[in-house]
Amino acid sequence: MRLPRWIAHRGGGALAPENTLAGIRLAARMGFRAVEFDVMLSADDSPFLIHDETLERTTNGRGEVCRTTDRELAALDAGAGERVPSLREAALLCRRLGLRANVEVKPARGLARQTAEVVARQAQTLWGDDPLPPLLSSFSLEALEICRDLAPELPRGVLFETLPDDWPDVVRHLGAVSVHCDATRLSAEQVAAVRRQGLPLCCYTVNAIAQAERLLAWGVSSLFTDRLDLFAADAAA
Ligand code: G3P
Ligand code: MG
Repeated sequence: MRLPRWIAHRGGGALAPENTLAGIRLAARMGFRAVEFDVMLSADDSPFLIHDETLERTTNGRGEVCRTTDRELAALDAGAGERVPSLREAALLCRRLGLRANVEVKPARGLARQTAEVVARQAQTLWGDDPLPPLLSSFSLEALEICRDLAPELPRGVLFETLPDDWPDVVRHLGAVSVHCDATRLSAEQVAAVRRQGLPLCCYTVNAIAQAERLLAWGVSSLFTDRLDLFAADAAA
């Protein structure tokens, strides 16, 4: 699978409130062709775009996302008057804008199965046979196994912090089409090893030009960035 070189991180990166529709719109306006966002379940088991298990950092709410109802979540301010979007809203927007979505399944502790089941099923319905299917990714191997079993036709990316020695086995087990890992914990040798297997390697989170140039020279295929302003021209090229 070919992914764009640049992927706007957490929706629109640092220029808009993270994981919001405004962020996704901004990424598209700036020429980005792909966006990554984080998805977690509410107390009603509905998938919403939010990164943390708690509301405090990114919204004016308090407490745990998994104990907050849809109604309560929908009433929160996620910054600059933006709401916490549902997966449905984000999917419709990405499809309308022609953006490739990387849906990061971000289960709250103990909720990997439930979260993956809901996200995989909704993603199937929301994208249907769209020629740009969402890429589902997760740090949770359990979540990815469930995505594989329930929605085998949707591409999966496996997320690591540090690339483990047995990464090829993990990739094979999950049927993953891409490997995602922390840009600061990667060596040129590891990049070469992933490339030899013919898999795209995507690195998060790259916010400096020199670092981007080094990773691309090593053969990294895609970079997640918060600095849409720095990389917009290249993303749009
Ligand atoms: O999916 C890549 C990246 O978003 C993983 O880290 O914590 O920003 O979700 P995080
Ligand atoms: Mg993420």
